[in-house]
Amino acid sequence: MSKIISGVSLSQEIKSKMKEEVKQLVKIFNRPPHLAVICVGDNPASISYVKGKEKDCLEVGIKATTIHLDEKVSEKTLLDLIKSLNEDRTVDGILVQLPLPKTIDEQKVLDFIAPMKDVDGFHPNNVASLYLKRTSIQPCTPKGVIKLLKSENINLEGVNACVIGRSNIVGMPLAKMLLDENATVTICHSKTKNLEEITKCADLIISCVGKPKFIKASMVKDGCVVIDVGVNRLNGKLCGDVDFDEVSKKASYITKVPGGVGPMTRCCLLENTILTFKLNNKI
Ligand code: GUN
Repeated sequence: MSKIISGVSLSQEIKSKMKEEVKQLVKIFNRPPHLAVICVGDNPASISYVKGKEKDCLEVGIKATTIHLDEKVSEKTLLDLIKSLNEDRTVDGILVQLPLPKTIDEQKVLDFIAPMKDVDGFHPNNVASLYLKRTSIQPCTPKGVIKLLKSENINLEGVNACVIGRSNIVGMPLAKMLLDENATVTICHSKTKNLEEITKCADLIISCVGKPKFIKASMVKDGCVVIDVGVNRLNGKLCGDVDFDEVSKKASYITKVPGGVGPMTRCCLLENTILTFKLNNKI
């Protein structure tokens, strides 16, 4: 049987430390870190994510302002809003909830956020800094995954790590962060041939493919560490990419969905907001 790595308890631990840190920052700067969240349209998932972010901020004492814009808002209006937030010295972090309506060029919008306020770590400058191994604001989900692994002192040096998924949000930055931990990283994706042959050799599997119960016990070796980044719905129920009941019988460590990576992503957004506050206040 495997040990379950809980993102709920680790994130709680980190959040209570952040709460103390925010109190100290308020004493020094007379205001808390401030995150501005822009939500375009009424996608129920986006609205629910944004509400979660507001609640998390409140919990640690970070100020959150959500700006809801109509689905039909023009790209220019959105860019003008970002410009004003970029220039607003009382705003430390800016997050534009994705996906955006098809009428808006998502990359153009993300590129427009001031790199020092980019709490998602999606701006090209921050992406480049990550790949060049300079100090950067790291994307929240991969950052959360590394924290989960480190919390259990799981050795990453020299291990065969298999990342399944190559998105700019998770798979690619995570592969780079694992490489920086001296893992030997294989990135698999939808066109990978003989996926099972690769996963069976892996000491660490991180799945971010978005297919419910895709990773089966037959695909993992005994003692493998399995991290599930998937957020899927199966018969109306939230479930990950990993067939937990099967795979947990073989893995040494495993995360659950919900309660694994998700809370860590949320926690890292708070951490990045505090980081941008410090960057913008030069501390
Ligand atoms: N939508 C789903 N995940 C994310 C994320 O990490 N950041 C933003 N901005 N939008 C998202």
